[in-house]
Amino acid sequence: MNMKKVYFALPIIAVFLAFISVQGQINSISKEHSLSNMGNKSKEKALPLSGNEKILVAYFSHSGNTREIANQIHKKAGGDIFEIQPVKPYPNDYDAVVKQAQEEQAAHYKPVLKTKIENIKSYDVVFIGYPNWWGTIPPPVRTFLSTYDFSGKTIVPFCTHEGSGLGQSVKEISKLCPKSTILNGLAVRGSDVHKAQNEVSQWLHKIKITK
Ligand SMILES: Cc1cc2nc3c(=O)[nH]c(=O)nc-3n(C[C@H](O)[C@H](O)[C@H](O)COP(=O)(O)O)c2cc1C
Repeated sequence: MNMKKVYFALPIIAVFLAFISVQGQINSISKEHSLSNMGNKSKEKALPLSGNEKILVAYFSHSGNTREIANQIHKKAGGDIFEIQPVKPYPNDYDAVVKQAQEEQAAHYKPVLKTKIENIKSYDVVFIGYPNWWGTIPPPVRTFLSTYDFSGKTIVPFCTHEGSGLGQSVKEISKLCPKSTILNGLAVRGSDVHKAQNEVSQWLHKIKITK
């Protein structure tokens, strides 16, 4: 090969190598994405419930969106409702709470809770509601799930979010409650909570909580 041909071929080889490298990265990203979806799906179940189960709707909410969905679920499914609250409230300032939550999530922090359930044993079905914080359950929900024994109970996750849906939250709930049955969760965008009544009803029907 003469030098002219070499100079001509070099940029083509460089472009080809760059293409192969980008393609490899795309493949591994999409593989990760489908694996994480599968991870959530494999834990999801729908149970035929008898209708006589005792229900608890437990939730944590920082700015009110999840509380709205918890109230809608409680109205339709019945049972008791319980707000998970940390002893030390999170700051109202958005940037401050985002920063604090990021640090706490990285440390798998479990804040002390202000509110307690006396009779967790009496519940068969426990709804767990939370805002998606950094892709998963917020720290107070981590404390809640670690405090009580949910073995043999049915757990029903629901969350509000701004784009990430349930994220990795169901995976984390399954890890914290390995002996529970986890039903298909509901994810509602924070800005849609006041018009979510139909979505909530359809979901409760689909997972056989309501007829
Ligand atoms: C600390 C923090 C972290 C958040 N992280 C995410 C996230 O990773 N993905 C997402 O979709 N939304 C995220 N959000 C948005 C909330 O999930 C959303 O606004 C939710 O509806 C708030 O619920 P609440 O009013 O019950 O607190 C985050 C909000 C906060 C304050």
